Amino acid sequence: MERVKEYALITGASSGIGREFARQLAAKGYSLLLVARRAERLQKLKDELKKDYPVDIRILPADLSFRAECGLVAREAAKLPVRVVINNAGLGDFGGFTETELSKEMQLIDVNVTAQHILLKKMLQFFEEKGIQGYILNVASSAGLLPGGPYMAAYYATKAYMVSLTRAVRSECRDRKSRVTVSALCPGPVDTEFNDVARVKFSLKGISAEECVRYAVKKLFKGKMIIVPSFTMRAGVVLSKLAPPSLSVRIAGKQQKKKLG
Ligand SMILES: NC(=O)c1ccc[n+]([C@@H]2O[C@H](COP(=O)([O-])OP(=O)(O)OC[C@H]3O[C@@H](n4cnc5c(N)ncnc54)[C@H](OP(=O)(O)O)[C@@H]3O)[C@@H](O)[C@H]2O)c1
Repeated sequence: MERVKEYALITGASSGIGREFARQLAAKGYSLLLVARRAERLQKLKDELKKDYPVDIRILPADLSFRAECGLVAREAAKLPVRVVINNAGLGDFGGFTETELSKEMQLIDVNVTAQHILLKKMLQFFEEKGIQGYILNVASSAGLLPGGPYMAAYYATKAYMVSLTRAVRSECRDRKSRVTVSALCPGPVDTEFNDVARVKFSLKGISAEECVRYAVKKLFKGKMIIVPSFTMRAGVVLSKLAPPSLSVRIAGKQQKKKLG
């Protein structure tokens, strides 16, 4: 194992993709600052990782749907030699736009957009003020590369926001010769607890969180901007760009409807 005296901040570390980032970055020698609401899950992960890796692991329970808690997370991270940010916490919801619950959608926007936006800004400012060569990975989705997703309309829109923000902020970083790399991870279906929260079944076969994160870590440290794990999903994204947007949206809607199972 490489020994790295640096920290990775990982949001949404209590489950799925975030938990897998914790495992793989600890294996690379990164100490960790783990964030999610479920403290007992974070503690369990900490206990598991401490057995295998000689790294420092700190847990910070926080509800990122509250802006104040996003600010708190950024302040705590700035006290540590953080070099990697996995801006991952997020959730989905399924259903026709007139039928889905507004309160759940507002929560989805608070976590997928507002919290990711705040943490991107604060951590980028922190890295640049300190002259740190850092990496920020915004966990978006392949949904964010498509022009729209009927029956998961709000979710697709939040992920498109993060893809757009990543592209623009990264271009600004390049203009001022920033030492920070900003990327977006855009997976297709990954087998996690996402579906239970979103109340869906995948219409396409999912990849494991392990496979998704292994690819993401490799591409992140190579500085890739848009990271799409799995050949099938990369091919799907290329094909969708060839179709007119209205057709892509109709196809996405058909796939989403199948999720009702
Ligand atoms: N699974 C997929 O197919 C897939 C595909 C593309 C993109 N993604 C994206 O990948 C990211 C991770 O999702 P996942 O698949 O790993 O799902 P997951 O297993 O449900 O994990 C979601 C994580 O987000 C955290 N989270 C949710 N709301 C939060 C809040 N208010 N405050 C703090 N943390 C919160 C959860 O922690 P607590 O509940 O403990 O707070 C959990 O750790 C999300 O951004 C998702 O949109 C997933």
